[in-house]
Amino acid sequence: MCESNTAGPRHVACIMDGNGRWAKARGKARLFGHHAGARRVKEVVKACPDLGVEYLTVFAFSTENWKRTQAEVAGLMKLFRRYIQSEANELLSAGVRVRFIGDRVRLDPKLVKMMDQLELLTSKNDKLHMTVALNYGGRDEIGRATKRLASEVAAGRVKPSDVDETTLARYLDTCFLPDPDLVIRTSGEARISNFLLWQSAYAEYEFIDTLWPDFTADIFAQTVSRYGKRERRYGAVVA
Ligand code: FPP
Repeated sequence: MCESNTAGPRHVACIMDGNGRWAKARGKARLFGHHAGARRVKEVVKACPDLGVEYLTVFAFSTENWKRTQAEVAGLMKLFRRYIQSEANELLSAGVRVRFIGDRVRLDPKLVKMMDQLELLTSKNDKLHMTVALNYGGRDEIGRATKRLASEVAAGRVKPSDVDETTLARYLDTCFLPDPDLVIRTSGEARISNFLLWQSAYAEYEFIDTLWPDFTADIFAQTVSRYGKRERRYGAVVA
């Protein structure tokens, strides 16, 4: 199966890297960079519909990010609460449906409640499907999905012979999402850092030198348009 990408990417996923370095270069604390990064998130969300992007997934906090200082973790959690509070109405009126992926068990119940409320509030929207990965790790997600599927098998509700790729994908946090077409990582690092491991099997990657707080809607649009020039092969040979 080969496809040219004249239509552009339907699902774009972003690894928003470089906030800390951006702040450091300005002699500021890392949280200053995260706040600047949150402003870019708003810009990128606004840009999606005109670029034909229907799904946007952003990596906001990984299962590994708990290893940062307590002050940075607490500051990020506060930033997520503030983002939800200040953006909810704007997202609702812009037609954005927001959903969260990741393990909610370790998150503060107050934040989880706000996440649930935002998901419910925007549940009828379909102009853009925004997914925020929060306490998310690809391996952790596959582990949790496998555990749930194994319980179903043990209870006799799923036959072992019926377990295949499609079955497992239904137990992933992303069961409601198409696979990403394009994964963008900013800040010059060429790693995927445990992001959408299963889902990105055939994604195109763009590693951009720009730090996330400098990643404007224009750079986003240019990156998305480069995707149109790529040819996806899904393992096949070009004719
Ligand atoms: C990685 O950069 C970035 C993060 C761990 C946090 C991402 C969060 C935001 C962009 C804030 C807002 C998000 C939403 C959804 C409102 P880094 O700090 O590791 O940068 P560094 O590699 O330069 O240290």
